[in-house]
Amino acid sequence: PPVSLIGAPTDIGAGHRGASMGPEALRVAGLAPALTARGLDVTDRGNLAGPLNPWLPPVGGYRHLEQVVAWNRAVMEAVTAELDGGRLPILLGGDHCLAIGSIAAVARHCRARGKKLRVLWLDAHADFNTSAITPSGNVHGMPVACLCGLGPQALTELGGAAPALKPEEVRQIGIRSVDAGEKKLVRDVGLDIYDMRYIDEVGVKRAMEEALEGLDADTHLHVSFDVDFLDPGIAPGVGTTVPGGPDYREAQLVMEMIADTGRLASLDIVELNPAFDEHNKTAILAVDLVESLFGKSTLMRD
Ligand code: ARG
Ligand code: MN
Ligand code: MN
Ligand code: MN
Repeated sequence: PPVSLIGAPTDIGAGHRGASMGPEALRVAGLAPALTARGLDVTDRGNLAGPLNPWLPPVGGYRHLEQVVAWNRAVMEAVTAELDGGRLPILLGGDHCLAIGSIAAVARHCRARGKKLRVLWLDAHADFNTSAITPSGNVHGMPVACLCGLGPQALTELGGAAPALKPEEVRQIGIRSVDAGEKKLVRDVGLDIYDMRYIDEVGVKRAMEEALEGLDADTHLHVSFDVDFLDPGIAPGVGTTVPGGPDYREAQLVMEMIADTGRLASLDIVELNPAFDEHNKTAILAVDLVESLFGKSTLMRD
């Protein structure tokens, strides 16, 4: 399908400033021409507008909740418009709190059409905190919980009364930083997590085969790509680096195996933070990996 780029230039849910520059860094790194070269019909919708970051301490366990809600409403509307138009939305974050709006839109779209939904969450973090257990109050550490119905009503009911996601629709890949209370919660809800320990033991290939199992022609596949998924040695341009992530080849294989399913129907690229980057190399790497996600092979297989 045709592809639409939607910029959401904000760091409203993050613990460091700068993810607001993510959309432009991805444009400068050549995201649109790279996708066009894949034979895709690409339209850049430009940037959404939303409140500035007031950079305040948490209130009731959340930082900037009102502004987080405003940004997510804008994202949900924009993503909905693209899906309704039969297009594949690519959200250019912005921090990972924006996945609440993006995936709320995707889930509502799927429910209305009786489509199955699978969310692949590529991240160093589980992003399953709540106001009661968050160490930071940063909402970018909470989107998966919110989407599963655990969070403030303004976010859990963004796309309707029922939670956007059931935990069994989610597969998390690359996880290596989960807070103490968060660990208990992800176990309690039974979230399917392919953490780095598991990937080290069985390899990317088997982990991805398992995470992608059961996708069929009736499944909408959403990929939420937090750039801190990648090892900081290759991807320093993020706010919350965690050592021990996938290296270049492992990350390529992850993207290629997703591409091979032919089911990718929506994408978030989030947490890219040019303030921490070196000569935009992390954005350039993200574009390279997204090319693979859209079927460019690093091998002689095309
Ligand atoms: N677990 C930490 C927190 O809740 C870090 C979350 C980082 N999330 C992210 N999307 N980078 O504050
Ligand atoms: Mn992360
Ligand atoms: Mn994340
Ligand atoms: Mn590539």
